[in-house]
This record gives sequence, C-alpha cells and structure tokens, in this order.
Amino acid sequence: MSNDLIVGFSGNITRPSSTKRFVESVTASLAERAGLDHAVFDVEDFGPALATARSIADLDTKAQAVIRTIIEADALVIGSPTYKGSYTGLFKHVIDLLDPADLRGKPIILTATGGGDRHALMVEHQLRPLFAFFEAFVVPTAVYASSRDFTDGAPSPAITGRVEQALTQAAALVRTRSAPTAIAAE
Ligand SMILES: Cc1cc2nc3c(=O)[nH]c(=O)nc-3n(C[C@H](O)[C@H](O)[C@H](O)COP(=O)(O)O)c2cc1C
Repeated sequence: MSNDLIVGFSGNITRPSSTKRFVESVTASLAERAGLDHAVFDVEDFGPALATARSIADLDTKAQAVIRTIIEADALVIGSPTYKGSYTGLFKHVIDLLDPADLRGKPIILTATGGGDRHALMVEHQLRPLFAFFEAFVVPTAVYASSRDFTDGAPSPAITGRVEQALTQAAALVRTRSAPTAIAAE
C-alpha cells in the first residue's frame, strides 16, 4: 500500500528535539528528490495512551492514524536519540505494535543523534538489526550526528555528505518501487 508520502518518524520523547529536527530535514530532502509530499511524527504524537497500549487497537484515533501513515509510507526516515547506547524505549514500543510484515520491502533511511561520538555505531548495531527483522530495504548509509556536528543548527560538511549519500540510495529505491513492473506487461 502507498500514500505517495515520505514519512519521518523520530523516537524523541521530549520536545524540542534535535533528532526530530534532523529527521524533518532529511525527510523533506528525500520528498523533494522523489517528488512526493512528506510528514513527520515523533513518539509524542502517540499521546499518553501509548505506554499502556498492547496493540494498535488500544491507541486513540489520532495515534492510529499516525501508525497507519507510517505503515503506508512510500519510504521512511527513522531517527532516535541515543539513550543508554540504543534507541529510546518508547520508540521500540511503537515499533513493537507493528505486524512483522508491515515494513517489508520499504525503503528506509536510518539516523540517530547522541550526546557524543562514542555511540556512533548505534545506527548499525541497534537500528539496522531492528529493521532487518521487518525485511525492509534499509539503505547502506546510515547517519549518526552528535551535538558537535551542528553549528547554529547547521550540519557539518561530513554529515551533509553522508545525508546526500543516503538520499541518493533511498531515492533510487523509491523510484524502483513506484515504477510500473516490466514483468506485468510480458
Ligand atoms: C536518558 C538519556 C540517555 C542518554 N544516553 C546517551 C548515550 O548512551 N549515548 C549518547 O551519546 N548520548 C546519550 N544521551 C544524550 C542524547 O542522545 C542526546 O542529547 C540526543 O541528541 C538528544 O536528542 P533529542 O534532542 O532529540 O532529545 C542520553 C540522553 C538521555 C536523556
């Protein structure tokens, strides 16, 4: 299923959030490249019912709409602040509500922020295996940014370069997914 939308989802549990800001920027850039609209959500959008929800049906109407938009996205930009060397607990709780088939084949860019550089491999050792479980098409370039990578909110050239790489990889996947299959015509 597709909603012609690139969707960002950030695991921040407080606002304002540097992670959400970063996810917003990457999501908008991917949408521009793909010629699609975009929307960005964070854990806060799920409201207080999230913590007690054991299935999507337990969420309120607004939160159910958010999770449906994530499931139907043409591509996802995922981000989380690093908490104790991993993604936030409530981010994982949202992901735990999904069916194992919900993200199969979906192009995904992985991002994370952290207080320092020591946990830069969090994107590879925590986020990548999680989305491998869902059999998603996670692009090879993941982006971890610490507070030192930003000056007045602007990312360093190193981060911009990695984002560009990830965008190129994801845009190619989005194009492939939306192209009519040649096999169908045979
Ligand atoms: C509970 C908690 C645990 C954290 N654990 C880590 C950590 O293990 N490694 C790290 O680099 N930063 C850690 N941080 C710092 C955050 O990852 C960092 O400030 C992040 O960019 C905040 O993102 P946000 O503005 O979206 O909330 C932690 C912060 C909190 C509040």
